[in-house]
Amino acid sequence: MKTVLITGCSSGYGLETARHFHARGWNVIASMRTPREDVLPQSDRLRVLRLDVTRPDSIAAAIAACGPIDVLVNNAGIGLFGAFEATPMTTVREVFETNVFGVMAVTQAVLPQMRERRSGAVVNVTSSATLAPMPLVAAYTASKTAVEGFTGSLALELAELNVRAKLVEPGYGPGTQFSANSGSRMDGLIPETYAAFAQRTLASFMQPSEVTLPTDVAEVVWRAANDASGSLHFAAGADALALAGSR
Ligand SMILES: NC(=O)c1ccc[n+]([C@@H]2O[C@H](COP(=O)([O-])OP(=O)(O)OC[C@H]3O[C@@H](n4cnc5c(N)ncnc54)[C@H](OP(=O)(O)O)[C@@H]3O)[C@@H](O)[C@H]2O)c1
Repeated sequence: MKTVLITGCSSGYGLETARHFHARGWNVIASMRTPREDVLPQSDRLRVLRLDVTRPDSIAAAIAACGPIDVLVNNAGIGLFGAFEATPMTTVREVFETNVFGVMAVTQAVLPQMRERRSGAVVNVTSSATLAPMPLVAAYTASKTAVEGFTGSLALELAELNVRAKLVEPGYGPGTQFSANSGSRMDGLIPETYAAFAQRTLASFMQPSEVTLPTDVAEVVWRAANDASGSLHFAAGADALALAGSR
C-alpha cells in the first residue's frame, strides 16, 4: 500500500486530494498547520499531522513521524491580490516563504528517503496564473512561476534516481478558502489610482465562464502522482485546461 503526504489539507484542494487518495486505497498523511480531525473520514489509513511549511522544526518533526513516503504533494499555499507598487516587501517575502521556500524545504526533507529507495514522486501545486498573465497578482504569480522553474529542473536530476517531479496547475477555485485566507494580507494594497481597475478586474474574476472544482484538482494530482509518461505539466480544471490549450 502506498503512502502520500499532502501539505495544507485543512481546506480546499488539499483536503479534497486527501479524500481522493484515501478513496483509492492509499495511506494518507494529511498535514495541516492546525490539525483538524473532523474534516476527514475516520480510518486506519488516514493520519492528520501537524506541519507548517515555513518552520524547519515543524518540517523535521513531521517527516520523522511519517515513515516511508511514496508521494509528496506540496499543496499548501497563500494568495495575494493587490497592486505590486503598494505591496510591502515583507508581504512579498511572506508569500515566497510559504509558496516557494516551503515547497523547497519540504521537498528537501523528503528526498533522501526517495533517493535511497530509488522511487517516489513529488507533485507541486502551482496555478493557472503561470499559464497566462493576470493583473494584480504579480508577487503571487512570481512565487508560483518560481516553483514551475524549480520543478522542471528538479525533474531532470531526480529522473536519474527514478524519482519523478510533476506540476499541477489549478485554475480559479471559488469553492476553496483561498480568497478568505488571503484576507488581511491584502489590506491597503489597492491605492486610489488602481481602484477602478481593481474593481473591474475583481468583477471579471467573480463572473468566470469556467472554474476549477476541488475534485478536478484532486483527480489531476492523482494522475500526476501516478504518471509514468514523463509529462511535467498537468493543468487542472476547465479554465486552466482552456488556458493551457491556448498557449
Ligand atoms: N483557489 C484558487 O483559486 C487557486 C487557484 C490556483 C492555485 N491555487 C493553489 O492551490 C493550493 C491550495 O489552495 P486552495 O485554493 O485549496 O486554498 P485554501 O483553501 O486556502 O487552502 C490552502 C491550504 O494551505 C494551508 N497553508 C497555508 N499556509 C501554510 C503553511 N505555512 N503551512 C502549512 N499549510 C499552510 C492552509 O492552511 P490554514 O487553514 O492553516 O491556513 C490551507 O490548508 C495553493 O497552493 C494555491 O496557491 C488555488
